[in-house]
Amino acid sequence: MKETILVTGGTGFIGSHTTVELQNAGYNVVIVDNLSNSSVDVLDGIEKITGIRPAFEKVDLRDFDATEAVFQKYPGIKGIIHFAASKAVGESVEKPLLYYRNNLVSLINLLELMPKYDCKGIIFSSSCTVYGQPSAENLPVTENAPIQKALSPYGNTKQVNEEIIQDYIHSGAPIKSVILRYFNPIGAHPSAFIGELPNGVPMNLIPFVTQTAMGIRKELKIFGNDYNTPDGTCIRDYIYVVDLAKAHVKAMERVLEKETDAVEIFNIGTGTGLSTLEVIQGFEKATGVKLPWSYAPRREGDIEKVWGNVDKANNVLGWKAETPVEEVLASAWKWQQALRERGIM
Ligand code: UD1
Repeated sequence: MKETILVTGGTGFIGSHTTVELQNAGYNVVIVDNLSNSSVDVLDGIEKITGIRPAFEKVDLRDFDATEAVFQKYPGIKGIIHFAASKAVGESVEKPLLYYRNNLVSLINLLELMPKYDCKGIIFSSSCTVYGQPSAENLPVTENAPIQKALSPYGNTKQVNEEIIQDYIHSGAPIKSVILRYFNPIGAHPSAFIGELPNGVPMNLIPFVTQTAMGIRKELKIFGNDYNTPDGTCIRDYIYVVDLAKAHVKAMERVLEKETDAVEIFNIGTGTGLSTLEVIQGFEKATGVKLPWSYAPRREGDIEKVWGNVDKANNVLGWKAETPVEEVLASAWKWQQALRERGIM
């Protein structure tokens, strides 16, 4: 058995898939989650896949003492993968203090505890949202592209958290960090035992697509068809959540085992942009299900087009997205069907 890793937000979408890949790689995982946006039943799904039930603590990371108690209960936590955060862009505009307190204080508490418990490395979930709309010459966007003023408090928490980590390490803190900037994570584990479970009406494209295919939503609206893109719809870099989860394992190995800079940043995407229309066509092709959709006005705050240059992740981290998009879209549909079979959706 390798080291013990604390996965915050481990019952969430990306956290649960990463827990599976960490366990597959031999790590011992302890999950903390306040279950504000996920269910404890996710532990059953993880156990069904790997045969190992991860340790779980229902803890709110804003609570310093409760967080410290986790380090005391599980001695020898060597690394942290920090997913736990609020992530709804619109809600963050309405409740900025909730977002700042939740997303910033949680990270600060973890960083403060790391040296005391000899915890060496933290992998932080950041987002391509930090690039805003890159200029044409900066597409595909590299890690060195300028950071642009965030369009929402949510986006700002990602930027500020990156800076908090960098400032803390530059101050001489005895820790290392890998910051992963994700593009758009989608899909579900091929077993359909874990996946994405949005609360209420989904804001993100793929859950809306699968719920429409299931008949839960009447029609998908494509937000805007007058963008400066080949088919007029927005372009994103959709990355399979299982591939993304594996990037965290690579990042953890790197932080704990390799002689590297104390802070490193990697884009995690496929390197290819797909338009919203291409995603819909791809979904129909992959599943044989016809989707009802129509064009609607642009959504406020949407970026026109962004996709990643992932050379650094490929060459330095030694990680590459490998799953074909049809397979990814089929996995999202299989998960939606599993939810129906289980009577959840
Ligand atoms: C959003 C967040 C981003 C966050 C990411 C997490 C915004 C502005 N950005 O990214 O900060 O990190 O989620 O996954 O909210 N679309 C439709 N119809 C729909 C839903 C989406 O046409 O019903 C389109 C959107 O206009 C967009 C694309 O699908 O062009 C992807 O949308 P979404 O899944 O919400 O992701 P982002 O907006 O890229």
